[in-house]
Amino acid sequence: MKLIKEKNYEAMSRQAANIISAQVIIKPDCVLGLATGSTPIGTYNQLAAWYEKGDVDFSRVRTINLDEYIGISGRDEHSYRYFMDKNFFEKINIKKENTFVPSGIAKDIEKECKEYDRRIKDFGGIDLQLLGIGLDGHIGFNEPGDCFQKNTHVVKLHSSTIEANSRFFSSPEKVPEYAITMGMISIMQAKKILLIANGKAKEDILNKALYGAITPQIPASILQLHSDLTVIYSEE
Ligand code: GLP
Repeated sequence: MKLIKEKNYEAMSRQAANIISAQVIIKPDCVLGLATGSTPIGTYNQLAAWYEKGDVDFSRVRTINLDEYIGISGRDEHSYRYFMDKNFFEKINIKKENTFVPSGIAKDIEKECKEYDRRIKDFGGIDLQLLGIGLDGHIGFNEPGDCFQKNTHVVKLHSSTIEANSRFFSSPEKVPEYAITMGMISIMQAKKILLIANGKAKEDILNKALYGAITPQIPASILQLHSDLTVIYSEE
């Protein structure tokens, strides 16, 4: 594992964007696994700025996102599809049809899960997976539990996650109770993993995840087993 400590959010974002743009330059048709949340917003802004300058070209890149809330459509401003479009995809030259976010309104959600895994397999896996970390150690929406969930699956969100994510909604009651998330196989089979974390509040869970026991009670702890993990942390 490579741990990079940065002095502030801007430096963390710039460093993460550096690694992602290097990936795109080395392999222009790469598959990027992408994340939502407030942490990656600065990274996406930096990448968009470099695209504007002509330094990075996303025209052949394919992206696959980690997760989506169940019950809200991609046109809803609270959806992760909407988040990705507004914060990243609409600012760069990626082809919309090359961007994938699980559907939270699929009629047959089990089928959606299977097809999502198949799509990742057909892509030949993920070249670089960007991750944030939840306060309870979740990655994507893989919540703490009795075992690691292998495949894309439906998850009931923990009350602490609903509480943490309620800042994006008008009230905690408005946060969907269920989500669809990529499982640990697709994440762990990514060729490279880049985990970003920002703020003192994340320090404790990050330490447990990176140096403590590998346990499904702290889903991110499984990342210790990955052979190419980079973590960028800024406490500010
Ligand atoms: C959500 C997302 C995660 C993300 C987490 C942390 O629950 N599903 O992928 O890592 O939030 O978000 P933030 O970066 O806002 O702390």
